[in-house]
Amino acid sequence: MDAPKPRSALNQTIALSAADRDRLRSRLLPLSSISALPVPSGTLQGDCLTISAALPQAWADLLILDPPYNLSKVFNGKRFGRRSVQDYTDWLDAVICRLKPLLKETATVYICGDWFSSASIFTVAAAHFMVRNRITWERDKGRSAQANWKNASEDIWFCTVSESYTFNAQAVRQRRRVLAPYRDRDQQPKDWQSTQAGKFRDTGSSNLWTDITLPFWSMAENTPHPTQKSEKLIAKLLLASSQPQDFVLDPFVGSGTTSVVAKKLGRHYLGIEQDEEYCLLTEYRLEHADQDPRIQGWVDGVFWERNTFALQQHAATSEMPPRLDPKAGKSIQ
Ligand SMILES: C[S@@+](CC[C@H](N)C(=O)[O-])C[C@H]1O[C@@H](n2cnc3c(N)ncnc32)[C@H](O)[C@@H]1O
Repeated sequence: MDAPKPRSALNQTIALSAADRDRLRSRLLPLSSISALPVPSGTLQGDCLTISAALPQAWADLLILDPPYNLSKVFNGKRFGRRSVQDYTDWLDAVICRLKPLLKETATVYICGDWFSSASIFTVAAAHFMVRNRITWERDKGRSAQANWKNASEDIWFCTVSESYTFNAQAVRQRRRVLAPYRDRDQQPKDWQSTQAGKFRDTGSSNLWTDITLPFWSMAENTPHPTQKSEKLIAKLLLASSQPQDFVLDPFVGSGTTSVVAKKLGRHYLGIEQDEEYCLLTEYRLEHADQDPRIQGWVDGVFWERNTFALQQHAATSEMPPRLDPKAGKSIQ
């Protein structure tokens, strides 16, 4: 048998040691800690359908729901099987019926899925919430198919409990390089800025995201979780739809991306996950979130288009427009 390949020095994928596991296990929240308000920030191991019944009612400002999609996938030995649209719809409906009582009247809900799961998501979301939009984001990884189009996108459904909700459009602006730098009659830049780092325009974020990089082995946020979301993607949701100190709930927290981003952005967070190893990865990332509060691609309070890393570095140390306070933004209440 071939010896395992030595790990590249550039590979930053988080690998827990036995000592890490022992230390991190003691950080998991006991079930007894969550029955009264305020709900503590942390991670609970277990089935979210059971745990949700033990949580207080009406405390969460933002629910990030990234459940197993309607496809066959193994999560550290536990298999979620693809089922009919009706069966997945029924399963998702049962999940949302358990979680809905935990939400405030002003809460926002994001539900992630692929194109096939989206058929069920819309049906269930429309039955319980006000469906406001569907974000489609481009996955840069995807398997080629011989007799079908390659799957290279996913959806995130944007819903609210009521007409009263938070949306901070200014906190999720995108910075793009200007290709045709128009000037007005006085030769001043028209809707763009000329800086030492280059020419840029800041624009509002649309429901089509082409600037998301999935975590990969040379990124510090990468873990062995098979369907880890990127911090940048989750940061957009949290910045747009919550305020600092708000309570963010992720009942399928996986490797902990939502909790880590919430911690970096000064929100409270509760993550629930059935698998112990994923819970410990979450806690490991939370431990390190204070040491490195950066979010890849978010510099000076704006999201930069892809492949602008050198420009972002430059901007962080030059005279780019002032950093946007993540607290800034409009709240529709
Ligand atoms: C799509 S992944 C979430 C990935 C996560 N957003 C991240 O960035 O790592 C879904 C997760 O839900 C977990 N899971 C599945 N059923 C669960 C249940 N009933 N209760 C809690 N967690 C569950 C799986 O173990 C898996 O880690």
